[in-house]
Amino acid sequence: MGIYTNQLQAHCDRFEAALPDYMPATGGLQTVVAEAMAYATADGGKRIRPVLTLEFCRLCGGDPAAALPAAAAIEMIHSYSLVHDDLPCMDNSLLRRGKPSTHAVYGETMALLAGDGLLNLAFETVLSPKNRDGLTAECVLGAASALADAAGIEGMVGGQVIDLASEGKSIDLTTLEALQRGKTAALLIAACVMGARLAGATPEQETAARTFGENVGLAFQIVDDILDVTADATKLGKPVGSDAENEKTTYVSLLGLEEARRLAAQRTAEAVEALSVFGKEADSLRQLALALLTRDH
Ligand code: IPE
Ligand code: IPE
Ligand code: MG
Ligand code: MG
Ligand code: MG
Repeated sequence: MGIYTNQLQAHCDRFEAALPDYMPATGGLQTVVAEAMAYATADGGKRIRPVLTLEFCRLCGGDPAAALPAAAAIEMIHSYSLVHDDLPCMDNSLLRRGKPSTHAVYGETMALLAGDGLLNLAFETVLSPKNRDGLTAECVLGAASALADAAGIEGMVGGQVIDLASEGKSIDLTTLEALQRGKTAALLIAACVMGARLAGATPEQETAARTFGENVGLAFQIVDDILDVTADATKLGKPVGSDAENEKTTYVSLLGLEEARRLAAQRTAEAVEALSVFGKEADSLRQLALALLTRDH
C-alpha cells in the first residue's frame, strides 16, 4: 500500500497481531455482538491512528509495546464511528473497507450495539490493570482523558452532529472546518497525544504531537472529501459519490478540487513543520504525512 516506512509497517504488523487479544470472547450469549465487533475492527483499514499512537510513544522516549492497548482503543473508537456512520440513519452506506458494512451483515440493531460495545471496550482496554504494565497511573489517566475528550460531543460525536445537521444546507468554511475538526481531526489528535502521554512526554513534545495530529487530521479529511469525487470505489473500499448523494458540503463542493488540494497540502506542510522538535527521528512520520496527501484509498 506504500504509506508506511519499514519502521511504521512494523508498528502496523505488531498492532494487527495484538488486536485480537483485546477483543471480547465469543461463545457466550453475546456471541453475535462480539462477532460483529470483531468484524467491524478486522483488517482492511489503514490503521493510521494506532500506528500514530505507537510511533509518538517511541518518539517521546517510551516503549511502543506499552502503548498497544491505547492503539487498540483508538482503533476501536474509530471503527465504531465507521459502523454508526454507515447506518441508514447516517450516511447509508453498504460498503466499508472493501467488504459489506457491519449493518449489512449483522443488521442495524447489532451494528448499533457493536458500536456501543466498541466504545466501551476502548476504555476497558486502556484502563484494565492487566494492560497497564510498566505505565504510571498518571500516564494512563492522561491517555484515557485524551481519548474521552476526542470521542465525545466536543470531538467526533460533535463533528458528526454538525455533518448530519448540515446535509442539504449551504454552510460556510468556518462551519465546515469545525465539522471536520470534530469528526476526523479529534481522533487523530488523540492518537498522537495518547502515544506522547504514555511515554511521559515533555510539554513541548506533547504540543508537537497535538499540532501534528490536528494538521494531519484536517488534511486527511480534505483528502477523504477529494477521494469521494475522484477515487475508484474498488481501490477506496467504500462507495464514491456518497457525499453528493447525501448533499454534504465538503471542501470540494465548497471550494473546488484545486483549492481543496492546495489546502490539504498546506495543512500537511504545517504537520511536517510541527515535527521539527523530534529531528531526524521523525522522518517516518514526515513520509507518512506526505503519503497521506497523495493516497488513493
Ligand atoms: C475514514 O477513515 C473516515 C474518516 C475519518 C475520513 P480512514 O480512511 O482512516 O478509514 P480506514 O480505517 O482506513 O478504513
Ligand atoms: C467519517 O466521515 C467520520 C467519522 C466516521 C467519524 P465520512 O462520512 O466522510 O467518512 P467515510 O467517507 O464514510 O469514510
Ligand atoms: Mg459521515
Ligand atoms: Mg460516511
Ligand atoms: Mg468521506
